[in-house]
Amino acid sequence: MDKDSRVFLAGGTGLVGANLLAELRARGYSNILAPTRRQLDLLNSNAVQSFFEHERPEYVILAAARAGGIKASSTFSAEFLFENLTIQNNVIWNAHRSQVRKLLFLGSSCVYPGLAPQPMKEEYLLSGQFEPTNEGYSIAKVSGLKLCEYIYRQYGQKFISCMPCNLYGPGDYYDTERGHVISSLLMRMHDAKEMGAPSVSVWGTGNARREFLYVKDAVDALLFLLEHYDSARFVNVGSGVDVTISELADMIRRVVGYQGEIVFDATKPDGVPRKLLNVDRMNTLGWRARTPLEEGLRATYAEFVFQRSQAPKVVTQ
Ligand SMILES: NC(=O)c1ccc[n+]([C@@H]2O[C@H](COP(=O)([O-])OP(=O)(O)OC[C@H]3O[C@@H](n4cnc5c(N)ncnc54)[C@H](OP(=O)(O)O)[C@@H]3O)[C@@H](O)[C@H]2O)c1
Repeated sequence: MDKDSRVFLAGGTGLVGANLLAELRARGYSNILAPTRRQLDLLNSNAVQSFFEHERPEYVILAAARAGGIKASSTFSAEFLFENLTIQNNVIWNAHRSQVRKLLFLGSSCVYPGLAPQPMKEEYLLSGQFEPTNEGYSIAKVSGLKLCEYIYRQYGQKFISCMPCNLYGPGDYYDTERGHVISSLLMRMHDAKEMGAPSVSVWGTGNARREFLYVKDAVDALLFLLEHYDSARFVNVGSGVDVTISELADMIRRVVGYQGEIVFDATKPDGVPRKLLNVDRMNTLGWRARTPLEEGLRATYAEFVFQRSQAPKVVTQ
């Protein structure tokens, strides 16, 4: 990818997309097309087709999706299936028709079978049942991975895919409906600290193990793949390290400086007991994550505090 290549970044306002856009600019890419949803609704097939015909991007990074935590994906499974299928089909097929040189699609570690052996190797995909809470999202993601793989094998176009683990970092959503575990806990512990609340409750027993990757490391991995990876086989992107939710909550409490108690609500589900990617393939290619979890959490919290300080104050009478 040359510095003046025409790069279409779909989803440039999201957690991944906004960090990717900043990094592409920092690395000197000068020809980035990153329309907002208002400028280009990716659900609108005619608009996407016309965008490709007029803009003729050479590279495509597909970081647009209907994404969110377990609550959102289980409540809105119809939208998660329909919107993700439609966005990906529109972007991937038009990229194929307009002879894009390379496309990168993002899957998600959530799409591995709920009870896959750990750590999860790439070949475990479709070896068992999807986790029921995100089945719609998973079916859409697998379709996207397969569409890229088939286009690669059938037409020789470099449509590659990766499978990131849970991501966190600056630019995440701080909203209990859409948020992921780290952004929700950071926000809730911050608010509890401000209000002097004695405890914060956390869903589940705290024993479930999860893997997290700092979004800036994820962005580095995506650019690494765009530069160096050419294969129809998707590749896992993770930190290769997992923690229990209890360890995570403790770390967040330290980072936020919250003195209260963390109470685990064991009547709420834990989800799958463990979710850790095997990242051997990525390591063998020459990439590994750099940011330790606590360091990433500190940077994320600093950005959260800054954003809060900029938000307009609500005055109640
Ligand atoms: N975050 C994670 O933990 C994680 C983990 C694994 C994989 N992934 C994958 O990584 C990719 C990026 O995730 P993310 O966390 O950055 O998601 P995100 O923060 O929710 O961002 C999604 C992006 O897609 C855009 N988008 C959604 N529907 C659109 C539409 N109809 N037209 C135009 N744009 C639309 C959003 O635009 P608006 O700003 O207008 O909503 C936003 O820019 C997704 O494919 C996701 O599945 C994420």
